[in-house]
Amino acid sequence: MSDQKVDNERRALILATSAAGGAVVAAAAVPFVASLAPSERAKAAGAPVVADIGRLAPGEKMVVKWRGKPVWILRRTPEMLASLEKVANRVSDPASEKSEQPGYAKNAARAVKDEYLVVVGICTHLGCSPSDKIRPGNAEGMPADWQGGFFCPCHGSQFDLAGRVFKAMPAPTNLEIPPHTYLSDTSILIGEDPKGA
Ligand code: FES
Repeated sequence: MSDQKVDNERRALILATSAAGGAVVAAAAVPFVASLAPSERAKAAGAPVVADIGRLAPGEKMVVKWRGKPVWILRRTPEMLASLEKVANRVSDPASEKSEQPGYAKNAARAVKDEYLVVVGICTHLGCSPSDKIRPGNAEGMPADWQGGFFCPCHGSQFDLAGRVFKAMPAPTNLEIPPHTYLSDTSILIGEDPKGA
C-alpha cells in the first residue's frame, strides 16, 4: 500500500468519525433543549398561570384554569367584604385554622388583597363545582338573610364570599386558596408561591 493511499484512508476515517461524533452531539442536544421548555403536560401538571384582572369590574368574577382546576377570582365590593363579618359566627372555620391556604392568605378576607378573592372553585366535600349565589337576599333562590356566597348543588354546602363553609354543611373545610402573587395591580400569578406559604 502506498503512503499516499494510507494518508487518504486515514483522512476519510477521521472525517467519518468526526461526522458521527457531531451527530451524537446534535442528537443529545435536541432533547436537552426541549427539556428546558415546559411541555403541555407539565403545564397541566402544575405550571403557574397568569390572570389579567385589569377588566374585572367590582362585583364580577372570572375563572382561570390551573392544574386542570377552575380558579375563581372575585373582585369584592366594600359591601361584599362587610358581609364576611356578618356571617363570621355562622361559618364553621372563621379564621381558616383547618383550611387550606397559604400563610399570607390566612386572614379575615382570606386574600393577599382584600378586594380580590382567589379561590379554587371545587367543593371540599366531594369535588362538585359550587354555583354563584353572589347577590345577597333570596333573589338567587337562597334564604332571605343570605349575605352572598356560593352554593354547592350536589349536597347543599354553602360558602360565604371568602369561600368559608357554613356550619353543619357536608363540606368539611373552606374552599382552598391556591398559592398566588401579584405581578402588578392588574396581573396575578397563580400557582407560584415566592413568598412561601
Ligand atoms: S360535593 Fe359539594 S356538598 Fe357534596
